[in-house]
Amino acid sequence: MTIEENIQGLLERREEALKGGGEKKLEMQHKKGKFTARERVYLLLDEGSFEEYDMFVSHRSTDFGLEKEHYLTDGVITGHGTIDGRVVYIFSQDFSIFGGSLSESYAKKICKIMDQAMKVGAPVIGLNDSGGARIQEGVKSLAGYADIFQRNILASGLIPQISAIFGPCAGGAVYSPALTDFILMSKENSYMFVTGPKVTKTVTGEDITTDDLGGAEVHERKSGVSHFIVEDEEEGIMLIRKLLSFLPQNNLEDPPLVECSDPISRMEDALNEIIPDDASIPYDVKDVIFMITDNNEFLETQENYAKNIVTGFARFNGMPVGIVANQPNYLAGVLDINASRKAARFVRFCDAFNIPIITLVDVPGFLPGSGQEYGGIILHGAKLLFAYGEATVPKITITLRKSYGGAHDVMGSKQLRADLNYAWPSAEIAVMGAAGAVEILEGKNVKNMTAKEKDEYLVRKEKEYKMKFANPYDAARYGFIDDVIEPRNTRFRIIRGLQTLATKKDTNPLKKHSNLPL
Ligand code: HXC
Repeated sequence: MTIEENIQGLLERREEALKGGGEKKLEMQHKKGKFTARERVYLLLDEGSFEEYDMFVSHRSTDFGLEKEHYLTDGVITGHGTIDGRVVYIFSQDFSIFGGSLSESYAKKICKIMDQAMKVGAPVIGLNDSGGARIQEGVKSLAGYADIFQRNILASGLIPQISAIFGPCAGGAVYSPALTDFILMSKENSYMFVTGPKVTKTVTGEDITTDDLGGAEVHERKSGVSHFIVEDEEEGIMLIRKLLSFLPQNNLEDPPLVECSDPISRMEDALNEIIPDDASIPYDVKDVIFMITDNNEFLETQENYAKNIVTGFARFNGMPVGIVANQPNYLAGVLDINASRKAARFVRFCDAFNIPIITLVDVPGFLPGSGQEYGGIILHGAKLLFAYGEATVPKITITLRKSYGGAHDVMGSKQLRADLNYAWPSAEIAVMGAAGAVEILEGKNVKNMTAKEKDEYLVRKEKEYKMKFANPYDAARYGFIDDVIEPRNTRFRIIRGLQTLATKKDTNPLKKHSNLPL
């Protein structure tokens, strides 16, 4: 063969690979309102940056007639490229080839880029759209999944891993995304479940639709499996780019600084008035967040799950941070099982990737009741406590209003190695609220009083209790609060703190690993 013929052969093969499972199948994707696997890759990465691996791979199966049916790529597009000039590794499942189902060769392709990503220290992004294990390959595809799971586990805390679900993701296949740091689902066409509706009906008798069992909204609102829900794939892909802008490439890097045009000493007078006079009246903590962050920007994670706690990324003077804030607007900002799990995972992610944690506290305590106790609030609350206590990144805690009981300790308290603990003058830091405390402490003293006397006495005692404890100064007296600050100056104090703490070094004792209360 001449060199020209050789090159022609290569170009033809490339051409064939670009056709995926054929025009008809690619068109089907569009008809469903989906992008093809390749279109997703091109949209996500910087233009012209994609370098594909293993385009010429195909399966080795000889059963069920597969020996006669081969497609280049074998149903998954893998490689690396850049996002905003930074390297990422990517795999994109191609539903047009055997429904994007996973074969032995396909799994090897994914493992190859994951291994490289770990060596290079770059994030892995998985775009999922697959019918699961390739049925014709039997246990080899199960082994392929397990090979990927193992790499997800080894990569956890080493490099960021992001999963987008743009189609089916069912059976054991869900566990690869579940092992990654962030899951994003598109409203249409995506679902995740361990067991689908048909088997569910056979085994349990429950009649349920695909969407109700594992659609994007279910995982965003009910299960907390998904961190982001998007209207369509394009929005999802842009969101992945945005999310990465807050993250370092790996656990040894700091998150990327960006130019900041928002003045560091911008005063927000409205913050001085945001806390209602009556402590039982709610306000939206997201208003506080938007007022203090650079350009009023905040990328919220799990927005509609456990809304009593708010988590997400923002910047202060160009420095990425993770924000955790109790939300008085929802269940009074109480800590419950779901809120504890949500925030604990977020805190641990930030700590793994050197992202400072800013905590805004307004928490009346843990949610009481048998539902919570039977559900294991003891263990789940301990997760959040553990996460804060283990975190060695810069930690700045601002108490806005209530900080009561065990929840006070949990929410980034001084004793959990927070670096800076500030409080607004409206802060109430105490063992419990005034009404509850007075009821317990004064019970014996009101026994013989008339109802009127009792009311007057309790009101007086509550006032006394509030004067003594429902303020930041008792905690400040012991150094548990470093300073009481004017609310409108919060942005400046956080930025100053972050600048000072930029060189902070702290470690945990050497051990194989901790034993997080799971
Ligand atoms: C081989 C598959 C496949 C699979 C789909 N296809 N899933 N081929 N193995 N797992 C093929 C179909 O035969 C079809 O081929 C093409 O992909 C498109 O599939 P359709 O059914 O026509 O598409 P659609 O109607 O959109 O339905 C998509 C689907 C459905 C819901 C994903 O295909 C489906 O239910 N697939 C089976 C899902 C499944 O049970 N997977 C195994 C799960 S267990 P043709 O040639 O006709 O176009 C599992 C274990 C993992 O994954 C364990 C890890 C530990």
